[in-house]
Amino acid sequence: MFHMGWFLSTGFGVYDWKGPWSGNIRADIGNPELFLETAAALERAGFDYMMLEDSSVLPDIYQGSYAHSLKNAVVRYDPLPLVSLIARHTEHIGVIATMATSFYPPFLAARLMSSLDHLTHGRVGVNLVTASPHAAAQNYGLDEHIEHDLRYAMADEWMQVVSRLWESWEPDALGTDENRTVYVDHTRVHPIHYEGRFHRSRGPLNTLPGPQRRPVVCQAGGSPAGRELAAEHADTIVSAVVGVEAMRAYREDISARMVAHGRDPHDVKVLFLVDPILAESNAEAQAIAQRRREAAASDVEGALAGMSYVSGLDFSQFDLDAPFPEVLSRTNGHQSTVADYQKAGEDKTLREVALTRSVKDSIPLVGTPASVADQMAEAMEYAGGDGFLIASAVTRRNVSAIADGLAPELRRRDLIRSSYDYGTFRENLLSF
Ligand SMILES: Cc1cc2nc3c(=O)[nH]c(=O)nc-3n(C[C@H](O)[C@H](O)[C@H](O)COP(=O)(O)O)c2cc1C
Repeated sequence: MFHMGWFLSTGFGVYDWKGPWSGNIRADIGNPELFLETAAALERAGFDYMMLEDSSVLPDIYQGSYAHSLKNAVVRYDPLPLVSLIARHTEHIGVIATMATSFYPPFLAARLMSSLDHLTHGRVGVNLVTASPHAAAQNYGLDEHIEHDLRYAMADEWMQVVSRLWESWEPDALGTDENRTVYVDHTRVHPIHYEGRFHRSRGPLNTLPGPQRRPVVCQAGGSPAGRELAAEHADTIVSAVVGVEAMRAYREDISARMVAHGRDPHDVKVLFLVDPILAESNAEAQAIAQRRREAAASDVEGALAGMSYVSGLDFSQFDLDAPFPEVLSRTNGHQSTVADYQKAGEDKTLREVALTRSVKDSIPLVGTPASVADQMAEAMEYAGGDGFLIASAVTRRNVSAIADGLAPELRRRDLIRSSYDYGTFRENLLSF
């Protein structure tokens, strides 16, 4: 069996707004209904979680302007308040929201997640990101963003402070004093007095531990520093590596790093990003895939804007038809992703790389629900990962295709869960 998640790749934002199935998105922006319906559908389908991307910057790296971002609806609301609404609308599915460790003070983050753990009855998770653009750092008062590996070192310490705060109450601190004289036993609640290189916090939390005590931790690092953070702290890791060989190598690398940290590799579920194209016949699905490739090929600008955001470098400055420029040594962005661009560009022009890099599939999945279910089984069998993270645009049509078409086929093959056996997100996630 494997696990399923859905990555909402533009967070609490806008999906496929130029497409024919995005509903009344202009009027509905900021309205939670689409996300609540999505959560209910994914729960029906037996998904472990939905994961809300986030960033707190309106990108202006590409052409030094907000024009491309605003024209293309690159806007976001904060996903954290949405988590409570989703939890209220569902009973079992886990909900992961993204937090930037570089900007959230650890105490604020620990308390917020602990509060959400209560409100969701133990179904919340946090996706740790270090965030990349300088503009995001400037929104929080820094002159520029911190260097890539240093911000992972800060994230590691951040996670240690947050973990200590989550543990600042002993499990049985809330007494069951029949006489109502003592609400909490003060000998079981402890300050943490954390004094680190980057963070300090006194503690304890003034918040009772939630049902999970420690909300589920998710991470998506690709660089060595990112993988280390994930291997040390995460319960689930999401990866965008491409191809079954790379998937297998990624899982093996994470397992080895976990062992080095004294952890059991089974305690992390590694999910790989996919964007299935489903239709009633394989030919129809292939035709849709072809149309998508053509649409992507006609949107070089969209690809360049995406690459600019991820790397922090304005790709409009380079000649499209010249050999791919040297960018890896100049980036302070998503390092492993930029390394992928650089490798792809060894024998290609920028235009060629831009047109092939916009894919978000670890493996291409194209066909009927039945044939795609078979493809997923085969890939997972070989790669040895723990599941898939759907990254399709959040439209009611896509959600239904997955929840009501693909998931039943996977369940028929006993590949995904048919029930949630435990009360909390972590228990269900680690149950197989
Ligand atoms: C599935 C997935 C989800 C991600 N979600 C976010 C996000 O919500 N916010 C963000 O700033 N970065 C996000 N990232 C970027 C990662 O945090 C990380 O920077 C990226 O994978 C590159 O890894 P590296 O920083 O170790 O080089 C995501 C990456 C992946 C693969």
